[in-house]
Amino acid sequence: MKSEQFDSTIEQWLTYQSSVRGRLRLALLERGLLPHIPKSPCDVLDVGGGLGELASVLAGMGHRVTLADYSKDMLDRARIRLDPSLIRLQHLDLAAANNLPADSLDVIICHNVLEYVPDVWAALHHLQMALRPGGLLSVAFGNARHMPLQAAILHGDPSRARRELMTGNAESRNIFGTQTKVLDPDTVLLLLHSCGFNSLQTNGIRCVSDLMSRSHTDIDANYAALLELESDLMTIPAYSFIGRFVQIIAQRHM
Ligand SMILES: C[S@@+](CC[C@H](N)C(=O)[O-])C[C@H]1O[C@@H](n2cnc3c(N)ncnc32)[C@H](O)[C@@H]1O
Repeated sequence: MKSEQFDSTIEQWLTYQSSVRGRLRLALLERGLLPHIPKSPCDVLDVGGGLGELASVLAGMGHRVTLADYSKDMLDRARIRLDPSLIRLQHLDLAAANNLPADSLDVIICHNVLEYVPDVWAALHHLQMALRPGGLLSVAFGNARHMPLQAAILHGDPSRARRELMTGNAESRNIFGTQTKVLDPDTVLLLLHSCGFNSLQTNGIRCVSDLMSRSHTDIDANYAALLELESDLMTIPAYSFIGRFVQIIAQRHM
């Protein structure tokens, strides 16, 4: 997907981020990530960091944070929202990130960006090279295993569910109005291992909320209860692998 697609849809993205589902995604990714973050100040890159919600949290904890994105408009919007004395902004295309300084980072966050890069292995390889040995990567992506469940449960379409299950190449329509890749968590785990990472934790992000009727999930009054339920489910393997998104925390080999 071209960066202009993101440039022109920032308002939709803002609306989504403040919706119940958007807030659940952000809160669950944060809950999945924070237990792994070093206590002492370290060098963090949030690549495809968008508006910088998570980057702000880490900068507030005293880490040295860079937010990188290939959408100039997204970076401009982030610049208005973030404290420039705490977060450095960088224009960067992950698909061409082979020029990141080697062994320079302790933590890389790459949430819901892999779906948009043509070569996932190459992107992970670039990130691995930029991490210090022992450094941490948090990746999150739309989960192909979730899509047949949506087709069957939400849309009542068992034929489509079976087709998506068999071919494994379901696509989801994203909030930008385009088709987006979804990835199989086992494939991403294999790619991570082949790039020199150990996986430490796999979290399901919104394991059940996207299978519920919007009349139950899109109301603020249900947010707190949904967050607690999703937080309980996210680390249980039977549920985490069917989440709408999957977050994998991985460590570069020492
Ligand atoms: C779905 S948003 C996710 C934003 C943020 N990571 C989050 O989780 O809230 C995708 C972001 O990735 C950026 N992006 C997509 N492809 C990219 C690429 N090849 N290089 C850098 N940024 C990219 C987009 O501009 C957008 O800001």
